[in-house]
Amino acid sequence: MTMTVLVERTETLCNGIKLLQLIHPEGQNLPTFEAGAHIDVHLGNSLMRQYSLCNSPSEQHRYHIAVLEDAQSRGGSQYVHQHIQAGQTLQISAPRNVFSLAQTHSKAVLLAGGIGITPLLAMAEQFLVNQVDFQLVYCCKSPEHIAFTGRLSQPDLRDKVVFVHDDLISHPELLQAFLPSAHEHHHLYTCGPNGFMQTVFAQAKSIGWQDAQLHQESFKADLNTQTHRHFQIQIASSGDVFDIPATQSITQTLEENGYFIPVSCEQGVCGTCITHVIEGEIEHCDQFLTEEEKASNKIFTPCCSRAKSDLLVLDL
Ligand code: FES
Repeated sequence: MTMTVLVERTETLCNGIKLLQLIHPEGQNLPTFEAGAHIDVHLGNSLMRQYSLCNSPSEQHRYHIAVLEDAQSRGGSQYVHQHIQAGQTLQISAPRNVFSLAQTHSKAVLLAGGIGITPLLAMAEQFLVNQVDFQLVYCCKSPEHIAFTGRLSQPDLRDKVVFVHDDLISHPELLQAFLPSAHEHHHLYTCGPNGFMQTVFAQAKSIGWQDAQLHQESFKADLNTQTHRHFQIQIASSGDVFDIPATQSITQTLEENGYFIPVSCEQGVCGTCITHVIEGEIEHCDQFLTEEEKASNKIFTPCCSRAKSDLLVLDL
């Protein structure tokens, strides 16, 4: 179910990041949300994208989302940057949370990689309200890439924020300066590129942090990751076979070759692209299918999922 919101204002936060302030069209309160929550935003070009809410969860009169313009974008971020303006309405979902805060904290560490700052800023706001001891480590390329500079420099927050402009993936040892030793009620939250989050978790685990204390969020399937491998897709009806490179999705490759599978989110959360598989072993990368559906090895989401076997035969 969707609801209509008004884009009350937009703002360029820094290099390539655009903030949208969304309000109820008649000025009423919006549904409440928890820190870490996101909304689905239906864009006018029939795409849907998920964006984290980055304002304080104590605010009920508005939602803030911030969108990074992605040069590799296939519609979502480019649409937001080029077409969405103050005064227009948008269809959005109610907030959902798949990145919730733990019940109890004695200390929290928030590690943001680039645009991954968005859900972590809402968490920082919540910790301020709850008087939880925390540190926000914000890693980005340069000072020109820092978003929310106004909010992060305010007195209640500035002493809790550290900016890092080094490449932590290449120099993971630098993370140790920001990772306290693990205690029972310490929690670490990270959001950013997959490689960044993997590095953060590896370093935390190396000094004793347990899985239950580590929390991450990534909406976007990272097709540039080294872990993805090349495989082939066969179209059952025609017998056509296509190579799927490690850096491209199945739907992208098929579209380039004249086979169109409907897509919307392209991130494995909406289910629009579900396709039946006749042969081969699926590598599920979505958050939509149930564990039973995944185990059946009969359907998958080719916008982000891949193959464990060398060949997948699709019922197309
Ligand atoms: S397009 Fe949304 S799950 Fe594939």
